[in-house]
Amino acid sequence: MSDSRCHYIPPKWLDAVAGKTLFYPCAGGDIAEPLQVFAPVISDFWFSDIGYPAGLKMAPALRSFGGFTYTLTGKLINGDPLATIERRDGYRFLPPSRRIETYSRPDGSSFRVIRRRGFGEIALGTEFPDMSVGVFFHRGDSPGEGGSNVRFFENKWRRHEPLRNLFSTLIRKLTEPALIVSDGSLTPPLHPIGQFHRSRMSSAEAFESCRDREWLADGLRWTCVGFVGRRNGPTLVWAVQRA
Ligand SMILES: C[S@@+](CC[C@H](N)C(=O)[O-])C[C@H]1O[C@@H](n2cnc3c(N)ncnc32)[C@H](O)[C@@H]1O
Repeated sequence: MSDSRCHYIPPKWLDAVAGKTLFYPCAGGDIAEPLQVFAPVISDFWFSDIGYPAGLKMAPALRSFGGFTYTLTGKLINGDPLATIERRDGYRFLPPSRRIETYSRPDGSSFRVIRRRGFGEIALGTEFPDMSVGVFFHRGDSPGEGGSNVRFFENKWRRHEPLRNLFSTLIRKLTEPALIVSDGSLTPPLHPIGQFHRSRMSSAEAFESCRDREWLADGLRWTCVGFVGRRNGPTLVWAVQRA
């Protein structure tokens, strides 16, 4: 496979998450590629960031990449998009608000793009029914320098219960199978999905070195099935199934 390909996911794995939700916490402005790759199949895209502008005054999400064939058919904002971050009993809280855009595909089917202004770890626990998130997308994040330092792939104890054991919450929210897209940001030491973090390899090269290989970790089978564009290292797509 040539390195010039910027993303690759076999149709079998896109079909496996068709009609499901994609959740990308701490997404910032990184929405174009997730939309480009998954818009043909995903029903609800959730991008979450505490830095989305007050008022949620933003350009339509699908303007973020060229050559698209989707039509914006509706837009609404709910929650208080002017809310500010509050300090509560030892944790920070931002009352959530959501900018919800609806798009139609050429075949008449539709999907939604939700940009949620609020904490991603709270969104994970509150916005999704169990077994509904088909794609968990997370890259470009870090412990400092504007990164969230939120450990979605670990079970850390936190005094505020919704912030505790995020990995168990994530697993509960995932469909079976699900895809996890990660560049290894904020993953635990020695975890298979962190093995290329900060490496200079292209995503395609990293994928070739572990294509279709399986790892057992956390009671799950992790199979490397594809790749998307680099962030803090190559970004791989992992199929996750209960072992
Ligand atoms: C380093 S940037 C990375 C953005 C994006 N993932 C990328 O690769 O371009 C981290 C983002 O996380 C947001 N952020 C920090 N803590 C957060 C949290 N707990 N929940 C949601 N967003 C958060 C910041 O506002 C910032 O936009």
